[in-house]
Formats: sequence, C-alpha cells, structure tokens
Amino acid sequence: MDKKRLKELRARRKQRRRELHDRYVERLMHHYGKDIIASDNFQLSDENIQHGDVSVKEHSLSVTRSSIRLAKFLKIRVSHRDLIRGALLHDYFLYDWHIPDPTGQRKLHGFAHPGVALCNAEKEYELSDKQRNIISRHMWPLTLKPPTCREAWLVTMADKYVSLKETLRGKRKKRKQKSRG
Ligand SMILES: [Fe+2]
Ligand SMILES: [Fe+2]
Repeated sequence: MDKKRLKELRARRKQRRRELHDRYVERLMHHYGKDIIASDNFQLSDENIQHGDVSVKEHSLSVTRSSIRLAKFLKIRVSHRDLIRGALLHDYFLYDWHIPDPTGQRKLHGFAHPGVALCNAEKEYELSDKQRNIISRHMWPLTLKPPTCREAWLVTMADKYVSLKETLRGKRKKRKQKSRG
C-alpha cells in the first residue's frame, strides 16, 4: 500500500473514532440529562446570551460535553449522573445578565449567579451533594471556596475552557464585521 493511501486510511479511521466518541458523549448526556434538556426553563435559556452570541443553553450543553470528554481524557472515575446534571444546571440563573436590572444586582453577576442557579435548580430538581457542589463552586477562583469533588473540578475547568473559546470567537466575529464595515 502506498503512503498516500495509508495516510487516507488513517485519517478516515481517526474521523470515525471521533464520530463514535461524539455519539457516545451525546448518548450519555441525554441518558442522564434528558429531562433537564427538555424542560421549558432550560429551553428558554436559549434566549439569554452568555458569551459573544452564544446562548446560556448552548453554553451549558458545551460545558457538559467538555466535562464528559475531559473526564474520559484524564481517565478520572466520576459519577456521570452528577457530572452531567450538575454541568447542565451550573448556569441555571434564568436571566440575561447583559440586561441591567433595577436593583443593580446583575452587576455582581459573576459572584452571585452560582447561588441564584443553585436556588433555581433546587426548586425544580432533587440535587445530590455533588451536583450542589458543581453549581455553587464552578466560578472558583472568583468565588473563594474551591470545588471539593472531582466532578465539580472537572466542570470548573471545562467551564473556563468553553467560556474562553466562546469569548474569543465572539471577539473574532466582531472584528470581522468591523473590518467589513
Ligand atoms: Fe457560571
Ligand atoms: Fe458557565
């Protein structure tokens, strides 16, 4: 077999592995989180912007997928139920933090939203201690108390990675639009 053909085969195999892994992540996320994903409030968070032009719903799904991938990549044993449900609900604050509110509380959004998200999530779902930890500690080190379980550490890291990617993509888009006039 010539080199070119071998390269093609390897690339195809790699692509196939990636597709299978993506399918595994989607299946797992829906297995443990389909009630949350299908709920009205979660769907409505598609109207609230998180970073750039990415909605809170999209952001939460991306953080969940990245948390699953990160756990697998680092070979960390986790409770997938807690990891997925906590990640889906980590930003369950249910408002658009870019719109100022009369009380001025949204100015402190970075500090306050884990508490708001936890309060909202508790009203609708039965949360485990790990899920509470994921939601309330995910903004560390901005909020001083660090995560205390593996699942919460993973979501905290995935959240930062996804947020940075979304923010940079938003900035790139803005620059492109500006340069086009
Ligand atoms: Fe957050
Ligand atoms: Fe987040």
